[in-house]
Amino acid sequence: MDRLKNKICLITGAARGQGAEEADLFIKEGATVWLTDVLDDEGEATAKRVGGTYRHLDVRDAEGWKTLVAEITKTHGRIDVLINNAGIFRTNSMRKTSLEEYQLVMDINATGTFLGMQTVAEPMRDAGSGSIVNISSLAGLQGTAGTFAYGASKWAVRGMTKTAAIELGRRGVRVNSIHPGLIETDMMRQIPTEPERMARGVPLGRVAQSSEVAALALYLASDDSSYSTGSEFVVDGGLQAG
Ligand SMILES: NC(=O)c1ccc[n+]([C@@H]2O[C@H](COP(=O)([O-])OP(=O)(O)OC[C@H]3O[C@@H](n4cnc5c(N)ncnc54)[C@H](O)[C@@H]3O)[C@@H](O)[C@H]2O)c1
Repeated sequence: MDRLKNKICLITGAARGQGAEEADLFIKEGATVWLTDVLDDEGEATAKRVGGTYRHLDVRDAEGWKTLVAEITKTHGRIDVLINNAGIFRTNSMRKTSLEEYQLVMDINATGTFLGMQTVAEPMRDAGSGSIVNISSLAGLQGTAGTFAYGASKWAVRGMTKTAAIELGRRGVRVNSIHPGLIETDMMRQIPTEPERMARGVPLGRVAQSSEVAALALYLASDDSSYSTGSEFVVDGGLQAG
């Protein structure tokens, strides 16, 4: 269908899960995709399978971001899309969250997203176009007991998205956030509850597959969403409606 024909895309946390699914879909839609992660063997294998290029990038590494984005812009002359997807999940209440855990989750989920946006902002502004998609969560739209640091980080992602969208809008750069509900990946498997049991609370009666988030990411990455910026896009089977 070529919805991303000639687009140069960078996806973080793309070795597996939603990021890998997005890389696969984007390439099928005509994009050139650079996949990054800290799981190098898995990342290389995924990139080979989907037809993309893999590079190691810990999203906390400011210098690593600069080196990678410089390589991409040197190779292609520009970068069109950034999907800030990398993230970690921790299940502790506010009272049980250690400072170390709080800082780790904030560093990866929130600071990583900030560094990504900041690094691609320059080449995107120079080109006068670009789409940044930040993966937040339902936990970035409402309070969720027992995932304190994670919730804080995903609210930060939502807030940064809006500010960046306002700052970059007149330069043709769009910034939106995606808020997935229960998506069947390694991250969701950290929750000890059976998927069937979790699905009972979902109006659509099931958890989602990564492909269902990837379809939304494709829309936001593509020019189909040309008038959307600073917005939250929910993919949660109706969970938030309750
Ligand atoms: N699975 C869900 O139910 C769900 C729900 C809401 C939001 N999300 C969000 O979706 C995104 C993708 O998660 P997923 O479900 O595919 O889980 P996942 O654990 O399969 O994928 C996350 C990826 O991020 C990578 N990563 C972790 N720390 C990193 C770091 N410091 N630098 C670079 N990469 C790093 C991991 O290696 C992994 O490949 C995350 O931001 C997550 O918070 C997931």
